[in-house]
Amino acid sequence: MFDLRSDTITLPTAEMRKAMAEAEVGDDVYHEDVSINTLERMASEMVGKEDAIFVPSGSMGNLIALYINGGRGKEVLCDSNSHIIQHEVGSIASIAGTLSIGVPTPKGILQASMLAPLIKEKSYDLAQTALIEVENTIGGICYPLSTLVEIKALATKHNMLVHMDGARFFNAVVATKEDPIEIGDQTDTLTFCISKGLGAPVGSLLCGSSPFIEEARVVRKMLGGGMRQAGILAAGGIYALTHNISQLEIDHQRAKEIASSLQKTTWALFDIKDVQTNIIFFGVKGVSGKTIEKVFGNHNIACFGGNDTVRLVTNLNLSDEDVKGICKAIESIDEKEFYA
Ligand SMILES: Cc1ncc(COP(=O)(O)O)c(C=O)c1O
Repeated sequence: MFDLRSDTITLPTAEMRKAMAEAEVGDDVYHEDVSINTLERMASEMVGKEDAIFVPSGSMGNLIALYINGGRGKEVLCDSNSHIIQHEVGSIASIAGTLSIGVPTPKGILQASMLAPLIKEKSYDLAQTALIEVENTIGGICYPLSTLVEIKALATKHNMLVHMDGARFFNAVVATKEDPIEIGDQTDTLTFCISKGLGAPVGSLLCGSSPFIEEARVVRKMLGGGMRQAGILAAGGIYALTHNISQLEIDHQRAKEIASSLQKTTWALFDIKDVQTNIIFFGVKGVSGKTIEKVFGNHNIACFGGNDTVRLVTNLNLSDEDVKGICKAIESIDEKEFYA
């Protein structure tokens, strides 16, 4: 089975495991884990923030940012399909107490012009807008830097903050060739995951100002995310940031190859221009995502079907041979199979 369900399925390589086995560790709740301290310093420098904190997951990183900078009874503006609304079990409502305002966008990319009319200033009866959340990449699509600059300017004008869910931040950096620090400058807080395309087994980094990260350490502990000798995990992250960022280009190239095969078929509906990184979304006319998933399964391709689209994600586990096999399998699918 070719597994294109997600880039979270990537397995640590022998070299990464060796780095993890040899990691110097300590008690991270006491801030004494050398490997975690190194990873946090590396992360904050890479995105141009004062500090960073290692958290067990991207979801926890987003939640901590929303808990601190959103807060109870305040609003966050984000894309209506954003991960924080759709896939984080309602944690920003149930734990952070923040009301999410999902803004419909054609491809997940918010614009300052669509956000401006939605901002609510502090008042006796309104839920004040505290935060704008941008997801980069979203559905594999990258935010143009100019759009981020406009969003940040709007937020600053209204005394609001910007959080970036950069679960796949380095996919965006590699694809757009933008300076990660310049992207980071358009945010107040930023998460990125080491456990997705970068291939480490566990963890994310939440980056921001020193006072914010100090507060984040308390909230992480409150949420049960204070880990002890987790430097073993951080060593995987250090390895990933050192060796695997450039590898993302290969994932992107492979996604384009697979997209070209889809384009050759009579049934796949999508815009190849949207395949900017390692994610492809496509549909088949009148067919549910689950049916498409089943047909692909019959051709040895594992993927995730949603309501009316399917997601294919290239990842480090794949070889050139696998990609050839996937393309061949896709091109062999007869349109009739979706309607059988
Ligand atoms: C865009 C985005 N944000 C956040 C997350 C959450 O990451 P985690 O699974 O580590 O909680 C994911 C996970 O797939 C994601 O795709």
